Amino acid sequence: MELAHRLSLIEPSPTLAISARANELKAEGKDIVGFGAGEPDFDTPQHIKDAAIEAIKSGFTKYTPVSGIPELKKAIVQKFERDNGLTFAPNQILVSTGGKQVLYNFFLAVLNDGDEVVCPAPYWVSYKDIVSLAGGTIKLLHTSIELGFKITPHDLEKQITPRTKVFILNSPSNPTGATYTPKEIHSIAKVLEKYPDVLVLTDDIYEKLTYGVEFSNLATQSEVLRPRTIVVNGLSKAYAMTGWRLGYAGGPKEIISAMDMLQGQSTSNANSFAQKGGVAALNGDQNCVDEMRAVFEKRRDLAFSLLDNLKGVKVFKPQGAFYLFPDIADLKAAPGWEKLKQKTGESDTGKIFSKGLLDEKLVAVVPGSAFGYENGFRISYATSEVQIEKGLKRIRAFVEELWK
Ligand SMILES: Cc1ncc(COP(=O)(O)O)c(C=O)c1O
Repeated sequence: MELAHRLSLIEPSPTLAISARANELKAEGKDIVGFGAGEPDFDTPQHIKDAAIEAIKSGFTKYTPVSGIPELKKAIVQKFERDNGLTFAPNQILVSTGGKQVLYNFFLAVLNDGDEVVCPAPYWVSYKDIVSLAGGTIKLLHTSIELGFKITPHDLEKQITPRTKVFILNSPSNPTGATYTPKEIHSIAKVLEKYPDVLVLTDDIYEKLTYGVEFSNLATQSEVLRPRTIVVNGLSKAYAMTGWRLGYAGGPKEIISAMDMLQGQSTSNANSFAQKGGVAALNGDQNCVDEMRAVFEKRRDLAFSLLDNLKGVKVFKPQGAFYLFPDIADLKAAPGWEKLKQKTGESDTGKIFSKGLLDEKLVAVVPGSAFGYENGFRISYATSEVQIEKGLKRIRAFVEELWK
C-alpha cells in the first residue's frame, strides 16, 4: 500500500519511543525511574473536576460552537487582561483540543510552501514536524548552555530573511526551562518590530511555572507586534489537565477566523464538558496553581543540586517549566564512552547516553536530538522527590562509571 508522501516529513515522537521501552522494562518487573513524561504528576484540582462532572450530569454533552463556548472565551479574555495586560475581543479567541491543535491550526492557516519559521533550539519536539506538514521549513537558531539556552537579538536578526513568515518564542522553554526576562523579551521585540511581514508566535504554555523570573511575552512587551502576534496557551501544565485536551489562542481576528475554519473541518469544538472544567480553572481560586508551582520549584532545586558538579555533565539551573537539560558533550572524552557507543549501537551523543542509561541503570530520559540538540538530554522532574533522588543518584553512578 502506498501511504501519503507527507508522512516522510515527520517522525514518530521520540518521547513516546522512550516511554514504550521504559514500559516494556517495567512489564518485565524492572524498577524503572521515569523522567521522560512532559506532564505534571499532580491530579487535576477537585473544583475543576466537579465542574466537568456537573456539566455531564446536566446534559452539557452536545456540540458547542467550534471556537469554544462563550463562557470559556470570556474567561480567556479576562485571563489575558489580568495576567498579560492584553485586550482581545471574543472573536479573537479560539479554544482547541490542546495547545498542540492550536499550533496545527495556526501553521496550516499561515504557511505556504517554502515559508520559513525561525525557532530557537533546543525547541519543543513538535514544532518542526507541524511546520513541515504545513509546507514550511524550520530555521533553527542554535543556543548554548553557556548563554543559558537563550538567543540574543543579534542572533535573531541574522536569521531573518525575506522568506521568514513566523518567529516562535517558547518561554519558559520545553526542553531547557530557559525563561526570558521581560527586558530580554523587549529587546527581541525591538528586532521583530523592524520586520512587519513576520508573524510572531508566543507559546506561553509554561507561563505559570516560573522560579524567580517574572513571566512576559512578546505581545505584552510590544504594541507594534501585537496586531501580528498569536498568543498560545493551554490548561495542561498550569492546572495539571493534560488529558482534558484544552488549549487556546488569542490573536489577530483574520488569523483566528482562518484557524476556526480549519478546526471546523477537522475536530470541531473541544470537548464540551472539558470546556466547563476550563471555565472553573480560569475563573476559580488560583491557589492550586501556586501550590503546584511551589512544589515544582522545590523539586527543581533538588534535581539541580543532585546533578551539579558531575564530571563531563554541565547543568544549567532553569528558571521555569519542569525540565533540566544537561549538556554532555564532554562525556565523549570519558574512557568508557566508546564501549557504551558500541553497546548501544547508537551514533548520536544523547541517544548513546539515554539508551545506555535506560538499559544499565533503568532511568528513562529523552535524548537531546529530539529537541535539535545532540549533546544533551532532557530530564522531566514532574515526579516525586523520592523518584528524583533515586533516579539522579543512578545517573551520577552511571556517569562516574564511564570515567573509570
Ligand atoms: C512547549 C509546548 N507547547 C505546547 C504543548 C502542547 O500541550 P497541550 O497540547 O497539552 O496543550 C506542549 C506539551 O508538551 C509543550 O511542551
